[in-house]
Amino acid sequence: MMVYQPEKLKVSKEILEQMNPKPKVLIELGTYVGNSAVAWGAILKEINSGKSDGVKVYGMELEPNMAKIASDFVDLAGLSDCVEVVQGQSSDSLRKLKQEGKIDKIDVLFIDHWEKFYLSDLQLCEDLGILRKGTVVIADNTDMPGAPDYLKYLESGGRPGKIKYESKILVTDSKGPVSGHHKFHEIALY
Ligand SMILES: C[S@@+](CC[C@H](N)C(=O)[O-])C[C@H]1O[C@@H](n2cnc3c(N)ncnc32)[C@H](O)[C@@H]1O
Repeated sequence: MMVYQPEKLKVSKEILEQMNPKPKVLIELGTYVGNSAVAWGAILKEINSGKSDGVKVYGMELEPNMAKIASDFVDLAGLSDCVEVVQGQSSDSLRKLKQEGKIDKIDVLFIDHWEKFYLSDLQLCEDLGILRKGTVVIADNTDMPGAPDYLKYLESGGRPGKIKYESKILVTDSKGPVSGHHKFHEIALY
């Protein structure tokens, strides 16, 4: 299934609700038709007392057709004030948003594109300086089909002198038609 499953969203929402200060800026790598981008926008607004002040979700999507559908879905959901779909290769989009001054430090990074890009894009976020102490990184599908290099990197603590990661593994409800491991990584220290 291509979309981030409801039970994983529920667990993720609980994590975001516990963040202090309240999360406002989220980058999503892999938006597809906008299901999770819309969910993130609604969740962040709810956490911020229904206000969209400073709330921003950047959903990055490679495929132009998918990006267009996602953008339309965001409009339909009434979230175009706080959710923006950025079409293109995620690495290019990350660099562009940083260069344009649209992003500085982000609160949440959600990784859900192709697993071969998980590690390189995480390291790019480090290099761009957009992660801060306390930024939460949530990655889907780390087990199946899996992103072994990404997991190994986090388990080894990251690059010396860079960010130190504190990883938590959450397992979602195994009942129902979908289940699986949900890996959740929180950046604890620089
Ligand atoms: C699993 S789907 C995303 C599902 C979405 N997060 C949801 O839950 O609704 C993965 C998407 O990532 C996109 N993608 C893959 N590699 C990408 C890249 N390097 N940059 C941007 N998007 C990418 C694919 O086109 C695909 O639409």
